[in-house]
Amino acid sequence: MTRAHVIVLGNEKGGSGKSTTAMHLVVALLRQGYRVGSMDLDARQGTLTRYAANRSARAITVGADKLPLPMHVPIARSEASDQAEAAVDERRRFEAAFDELVSTQDYLVIDCAGSDNFLGRLGHAHADTLVTPLNDSFVDLDVLALLDPDTLAIQRPGAYSELVWESRKQRAIRDRGSIDWIVMRNRLSALDARNKREMGRVLEKLSKRIGFRFVQGFSERVIFRELFLKGLTLMDLAEAEPDQQLKMSHVAARQEVRMLLEALKIPLPEALASAS
Ligand SMILES: Nc1ncnc2c1ncn2[C@@H]1O[C@H](COP(=O)(O)OP(=O)(O)O)[C@@H](O)[C@H]1O
Ligand SMILES: [Mg+2]
Repeated sequence: MTRAHVIVLGNEKGGSGKSTTAMHLVVALLRQGYRVGSMDLDARQGTLTRYAANRSARAITVGADKLPLPMHVPIARSEASDQAEAAVDERRRFEAAFDELVSTQDYLVIDCAGSDNFLGRLGHAHADTLVTPLNDSFVDLDVLALLDPDTLAIQRPGAYSELVWESRKQRAIRDRGSIDWIVMRNRLSALDARNKREMGRVLEKLSKRIGFRFVQGFSERVIFRELFLKGLTLMDLAEAEPDQQLKMSHVAARQEVRMLLEALKIPLPEALASAS
């Protein structure tokens, strides 16, 4: 019996690139020949679900062999008005989909909403690897830590850091597992060198204090926004749009996705690992 490695995309902030990164990781893994499941815990916004649906539609025109698809499951929030009842309902929905995907796929990528809710906490507590994309701005850093405005000294952990702390505890209680937490900087600008340097300095200190690794993520590039409607990622351009000349910036962006995947240091699927 194999068990998929679970990658969760989370951050208590909307618009940081969780869904975009989720889709790129899904496709990068699919293109390496793995079976990949995906879950959308932000079914209300449904970005990853739309992305997957756009991709399925695209696969009909370009050919399914050219566009590998994940096994995708959106999990809707419960409509029960009673909070306890809603929690039971959401846990049941989550666990049914999770058990199915984790036992049939090599990797499972879970996309969370940008707010604290029960489904999101469930997702976090099931993570093997947690990836938190972070816009390169002190506004976004605020959910990780509160800083002194003059010295940038860390005053105390932010709301999201506390949520991760709690999730690590939950994960340990559930199966003694641990969560590898990675913060990735997203939408890096080529211009704002000073901000970039100061963010780097604070993240370095913070990573030791609250226990994450931080990696260089993606630069700010228009292409990330353009691919959504077509259901494509940077890993698909050569196969899905062979007539289009691949631009230098696209090659560079694709390289950033590959580097992110490498930096995650996720293990090979159990079946492969035990056979080697
Ligand atoms: N590296 C990037 N460069 C340019 N635009 C980006 C980048 N990453 C994400 N975006 C855009 O930012 C917006 C928010 O991204 P999204 O993945 O939906 O974030 P989240 O899921 O965290 O709310 C989207 O319009 C997306 O296309
Ligand atoms: Mg999203």
